[in-house]
Amino acid sequence: MPMRFGLVGLGQHGRNAVAPAFYHPEAGDTKLTAVCDVNSAALAAFERPVAARFPDHRTMLAEAEIDALYVAAGMDRHFRIVTDAIAAGKHVVVEKPMAATLDECRHMTEAAKAAGLVLAVNFESRYSEENEVLRRWIDAGHFGRIEALHFANLWDGHKSFGPIRERRARLMELAGALDCGIHKLDQARFLVGGTWSKVDAVGAWMGEDFTPPTHIGIIGMLDVGVMVTLNASLSWAAHIEPRPMVNTLEIGGTEGVALCRSSLDFRTMAMDLYSRTLCEHVDLDSHGHTSHIVLLLRDFVAAVNGQPDAAQRLPTGEDGYWAQLATEKANQAARASRPG
Ligand SMILES: NC(=O)c1ccc[n+]([C@@H]2O[C@H](COP(=O)([O-])OP(=O)(O)OC[C@H]3O[C@@H](n4cnc5c(N)ncnc54)[C@H](O)[C@@H]3O)[C@@H](O)[C@H]2O)c1
Repeated sequence: MPMRFGLVGLGQHGRNAVAPAFYHPEAGDTKLTAVCDVNSAALAAFERPVAARFPDHRTMLAEAEIDALYVAAGMDRHFRIVTDAIAAGKHVVVEKPMAATLDECRHMTEAAKAAGLVLAVNFESRYSEENEVLRRWIDAGHFGRIEALHFANLWDGHKSFGPIRERRARLMELAGALDCGIHKLDQARFLVGGTWSKVDAVGAWMGEDFTPPTHIGIIGMLDVGVMVTLNASLSWAAHIEPRPMVNTLEIGGTEGVALCRSSLDFRTMAMDLYSRTLCEHVDLDSHGHTSHIVLLLRDFVAAVNGQPDAAQRLPTGEDGYWAQLATEKANQAARASRPG
């Protein structure tokens, strides 16, 4: 019998990226049986076949025939919805950022553990083709000991004008550039392991007035001896029509180095490894959110069914916690750097 899911949050991401994953030909053993949104227009506009629709998550948890919940409602809503789901005995996938505070992340993780339920956080980029190549290079030892990771993730987070500017403003006010940059903070730990021992940052606001910086430069250290830098932006080219994106990763190791860079239109990625043991060039086509969520859902089902292989990639509540810790520290430090 497939794992029956309820989906909470039918906004941009829930509707366009998450929901299609359940109807994808490779979706595996899952079925979307119920959807929920507090916005009645969003609920009514959901066009896919689904057994039940609910205007609030508590009614859904009480009445819908579901085994698990997928939560995509915004980080300031996640804590209440996820802890209610855990109290109702449901396994949970929650969107990144996992919650609004570190305490909330800790509480959610502990509650799932105490209840014997699986809690996953959608750091879907773990399932990207780029990470598959990087893991192959790392596992084969081509870098020797990795000591430095340098990420850049600069894009417009949708435009500061036009139809979804309000949604953009909502996400920006919560986490700023790290609403999206948080994927890179997780990717660093996914590639080399460890936890954050130091995180510092400065910020820029690019003419906007959100609480967190919309453009941030982070310098951090993982306790496995790896320095990490991240330049992240949701305001890069946000005020002009063209839509260039910068997405790069440089890896420095004792035996090898690599450079991965997306094309400015984000359609392709070029990856180069120069090492004592191998020099290789790889070209990839970029795939969208949905194909990565499909893979995450497959691991999630495997983890619920107690299959240990799933644990290697599936991002857990602990991973959500560490990404949140780095996000909070970076945004705090950057806010302190704001002139005037
Ligand atoms: N994994 C990714 O790469 C990725 C990409 C985009 C967004 N996201 C994340 O997905 C989440 C949603 O983002 P979005 O862009 O869809 O935002 P959005 O504002 O477009 O949509 C949020 C939806 O949740 C609904 N909602 C809010 N509170 C609710 C509640 N208590 N119960 C039920 N529904 C509720 C809103 O009415 C809205 O329809 C955010 O956490 C965001 O960071 C992740």
